[in-house]
Amino acid sequence: MTHAYFIGLMSGTSMDGIDAVLVDFSNNKPKLIATHTEAIPEHLFKGLQRLSQPSTDEINRLGRLDRQVGQAFAKSVNELITKSCIDKKHVIAIGSHGQTVRHMPNLEVSFTLQIGDPNTIAVETGIDVIADFRRKDVALGGQGAPLVPAFHQKVFAKKDTERVILNIGGIANITYLSANGEQVIGFDTGPGNALIDAWIQQTQNQPFDQDGQWAELGTTNPELLKHLLSHVYFSQPHPKSTGKELFSRAWLEQQLSDYSHLNAEDIQSTLLDMCCQSIVDAISPLSQRGELFVCGGGARNAALMKRLTNLLPDYQVETTEALGVEPQWVEGIAFAWLAYRYHNNLPASLPEVTGASREAILGARFPAA
Ligand SMILES: Nc1ncnc2c1ncn2[C@@H]1O[C@H](COP(=O)(O)OP(=O)(O)O)[C@@H](O)[C@H]1O
Ligand SMILES: [Mg+2]
Repeated sequence: MTHAYFIGLMSGTSMDGIDAVLVDFSNNKPKLIATHTEAIPEHLFKGLQRLSQPSTDEINRLGRLDRQVGQAFAKSVNELITKSCIDKKHVIAIGSHGQTVRHMPNLEVSFTLQIGDPNTIAVETGIDVIADFRRKDVALGGQGAPLVPAFHQKVFAKKDTERVILNIGGIANITYLSANGEQVIGFDTGPGNALIDAWIQQTQNQPFDQDGQWAELGTTNPELLKHLLSHVYFSQPHPKSTGKELFSRAWLEQQLSDYSHLNAEDIQSTLLDMCCQSIVDAISPLSQRGELFVCGGGARNAALMKRLTNLLPDYQVETTEALGVEPQWVEGIAFAWLAYRYHNNLPASLPEVTGASREAILGARFPAA
């Protein structure tokens, strides 16, 4: 049996690490062979945070970070290859998402920008890179996001079962798979970990709230929760996608201006409830009951999982582990799959999800040769 090895490279808005996965697509079900997470060096993290907001001298910063992120991505792949003990000449291509530094899907001239130079990755790994997955969909009038629902449908759909796949990264997105297998709905629900990460980083100097323990020490403030959930994004119809442009630290600070009397942990608890409630408000109209499988870093937040489960009494709530895929690697595997689709000349987008005028082959190839 010949193998069909592809690598998926993913770093989301959380910027918590560069996930690399080696996947074999020679069978019907993608097989995960090896995984690696490469830490993002402090200077890159800081530079990316600055670049993610409008400022001066952006072009020089963009040019430099594009190359440096490409180098960091290549390092993640090279570590993955070493761990896997598989000769890199057997890897067909790397599917690289890139690091999003701006996502503006609703401007009159909409755009989305991911950096991490694919040429640099190709040169430093010796493996062809397939990248730039989002911009074709944007060119076709779509949101360019989320792209993972097509993959979720492919691997997680089950006949006669209403299923929702929920990915909780910095931003959270859902994929609804109807019982008859025909309908797929997918969109970003709003902030996932972005604001709970931002708040604990700002007030406690911790990268994230381990297991949601700090949020659990606080008490949710119902007025603040209601105020946060009144953000116009939550009531907009899908197709829709969002990012840290809308749910930024600056936005959070503005919302908190009338709530400075609250304890920091009460705010953390309220932000966690905002994440959970906005997800539930997005899921409930799609189906009152069904199966919900959570992936992304949020699946590892015990308090988040507990609150979500309580809010959805008619859903069976589990992580994608129950479907045989570790939550942390689902998105990475999805980008390996997008590369596999491109390589085989197959479309990978769902116009009904992104709002594009038609489906399309996504990405472009950057040969190592
Ligand atoms: N044990 C944990 N407890 C709480 N939160 C966690 C845990 N592990 C990961 N996370 C959260 O998951 C985030 C990373 O999720 P990830 O799916 O990689 O997001 P992204 O796609 O934005 O990079 C972290 O920033 C953190 O908020
Ligand atoms: Mg991540």
